Formats: sequence, C-alpha cells, structure tokens
Amino acid sequence: MDKKTIGILGGGQLGRMVVEAASRLNINTVILDAPNAPAKQINAVSEHIDGSFTHYESIVKLAEKSDVLTVEIEHVDADALKRVKQKFPHIEIYPLPETIKLIQDKYLQKEHLIQHDIEVAESIPVLDNTEQALLEVGEKFGYPFMLKSRTLAYDGRGNFVVKSSDKVGEALEFLKDRPLYAEKWCPFVKELAVMVVRSLEGEVFAYPTVETIQQDNICHLVIAPARIPDTLAKKASILANNAVKSFPGCGIFGVEMFLLPNNELLVNEIAPRPHNSGHYTIDACVTSQFEAHVRAVAGLPMPKGFTEFSTTSTNAIMLNVLGDKDTADKELEICRRALETPHATVYLYGKTTRPGRKMGHINIVSSSMEDCENRLEYISGSTASLPA
Ligand code: ADP
Ligand code: NA
Ligand code: MG
Repeated sequence: MDKKTIGILGGGQLGRMVVEAASRLNINTVILDAPNAPAKQINAVSEHIDGSFTHYESIVKLAEKSDVLTVEIEHVDADALKRVKQKFPHIEIYPLPETIKLIQDKYLQKEHLIQHDIEVAESIPVLDNTEQALLEVGEKFGYPFMLKSRTLAYDGRGNFVVKSSDKVGEALEFLKDRPLYAEKWCPFVKELAVMVVRSLEGEVFAYPTVETIQQDNICHLVIAPARIPDTLAKKASILANNAVKSFPGCGIFGVEMFLLPNNELLVNEIAPRPHNSGHYTIDACVTSQFEAHVRAVAGLPMPKGFTEFSTTSTNAIMLNVLGDKDTADKELEICRRALETPHATVYLYGKTTRPGRKMGHINIVSSSMEDCENRLEYISGSTASLPA
C-alpha cells in the first residue's frame, strides 16, 4: 500500500487490533510497550521497543523507526511527544500531543468543550483535597455528586460517588493525593457513545450512535444501534462530530455521552483513540474503527459512508469478556458458547487472566436486534438452549 511505518505507544488490545487492520493494508507497525504485550504477539517484527510509553528515551527509540506515531492509550507522556516532534520534525504525531495533553486532564477537557459550545456536566475544580472543600461542593451540587481524578482515570478507577456529607472522608481516602474535580450527578436514562474519525483536512465521519451498558464502571455491553428515536441518535451524532471538530490533527475518537430524562445530551468524556464502545464496528460496519484510524493517520482515502453499518438492517451487540471473579479462565466458557452460536465472533487478546480484566470481546451481528439478544442470552449462560 505505502511504505509508511506507524509507531504505536501502547501494545494492549487496542494496539493489537490496530496492528491487525494495518497489516491487511501492508502497513508496518512497531510497538512500544512491555515485552510480549498483546499487540507485539501478533506482529512478528524484531523492531518493537521494550519500554514504557511514559518514558522519553523509549519514545525516541520508537520514533527512530517510525514515519507516524500514534497512541492506543491517552496516558502517555505528552510533553515527551512534543519534544520528540521537535527532534524529528518529519514525523507526524496523531493525535496531536497538545490534544493528548488536553484530554488527559478531564477538567481541562471539560473547559475546552465548554469553550466550543459542547454541553457537558457542570463541574468545578477541587483546589485542595480537604473535607471542607468537598462539603462546599456538596452544598453547591447536592448529593450524590461525582468526585473524579483529573488524570490517569480508566474503568472507573478514578471516580468516587459521594452519596452524602458523611462520606467526604472516605472519598478523600479513596482518591488520596490525586488532582481532583467534582461533577454534578447526571441521572442518565442511557449512556450513549459515538466513534468519530477525523481526517487531516478536518472532515469528520461519525459511526452509528450506540448504547453502552457498564457494570462496576466497566463496559459490559454495547448495543448498536442505540434503542432510541432516530432524531435523538442524529442529535448525538452531530454533538459527537462537533466535539471532535474542536481537536485539530486527525484520527479516531470515542465520545461518551449521557442521555438525560428530558432528552438532553451531555458529553461525558472523549478518548483520543480507538475505544471499547467501537469494537462492534469490526463486524458491523463497512470499515472498523481500527482501520479508520490507520487510514486517517496514514493519509489514506476515507470515502463517503465508510463508517456506516454494512447493511441498512445491521444490528449488533458487543459483549466484553472479563476475567472470571472466582475461577481462573472460567470466562472461556462464554467464548466456547459464542463459538457454538451462529453470527457471533470471538476476539481474545492474549492476556493472562485476572479477575475483572478485559480478556476479549464477542461481536454478535444479525438483521434483527431480537435475534442478537436471543443469541446473547445463550452466550452469557442465561438460557441453556441455542436459539433457532
Ligand atoms: P472512566 O474514565 O473510568 O470511564 P467516566 O468519567 O467515564 O470514567 O465514569 C465512568 C462511569 O461512571 C460512566 O460511564 C458513568 O456510568 C458513571 N458516571 C460518570 N460521571 C457521572 C456523573 N456525573 N453522574 C452519574 N454517573 C456518572
Ligand atoms: Na476514561
Ligand atoms: Mg468513561
């Protein structure tokens, strides 16, 4: 296709699925992460870098082998990336280091979105981590409110629901010395998500609006399309496009949203990378989120409609496969049932099992949502017989 080599900071499952998409286009990828990271396992080149995506010298080593740098995680050293751009001006870095830096701090991300007229939950910074400061938040927002770490948050590990004034001590203990902000509680009826890919020219392409269902703060299911009226789905899509237009550079973004009881939509947070809510695109859309990202950062064509469902009657459900809480590898039974199920595809990430760890996912695709739901029941073990 093209002789560009893409260097990826991070070699988890997202990097692994980018590698898969790139390799189909004869695009080389090199990975910076720990030895035997999931993305390295399926990419038999010797150039991979063993090291950390938060370490300047390691990023320089990756840059020396790359024409384009990208990330599969936003918790990289963004300042190091800015220095790398100065040292190697010919290397493209997408998302832009400035975008990564902004998004890394969830409170700065919110301020940025507000400046661009994107609706978000009302938020205030917590300037000192004291009970008094949290009680003042409680007076302003009422209870419950959400206390969040501004940085290094994922899978709920950075959030604490402050249910009442006598819980502020516990909240501070939980989030210790992290930089904090508080968010007004959003009594959402559904959580929605939209993947958006942005070309270097600034054109945005939204994937379908989907519904995400979290369990213990981790994505459990994705329902595509979202079971909401078309007008709302369209509104979500426009909101996501507008949010992503506010970030220069190019690549794929995941936009998480809350749908409130009055049908108002608020952006929760944005990820500047492939996202768990977009895994369904591998089997349900013309182009997967991973290939869309590769096309964007490599400057390949992005034709009209390339992010749409493969057919006008495509429905999909994605189920995350998490490490079983009690018995090592028991989650493989879910995968086994999925293999027995028509219209289901299993993706495993090559990780060692741990309770609650994201081990893989399953995509179910059919022309009816009811059919997807019946198949999900069998796969998740809530019915013993395979649907007809
Ligand atoms: P993470 O980086 O861990 O994904 P999020 O900020 O997206 O952090 O929060 C994780 C989950 O917590 C969300 O998907 C949502 O279910 C819930 N949540 C987050 N913020 C709020 C809020 N302001 N009100 C109600 N629920 C929230
Ligand atoms: Na996050
Ligand atoms: Mg989130």
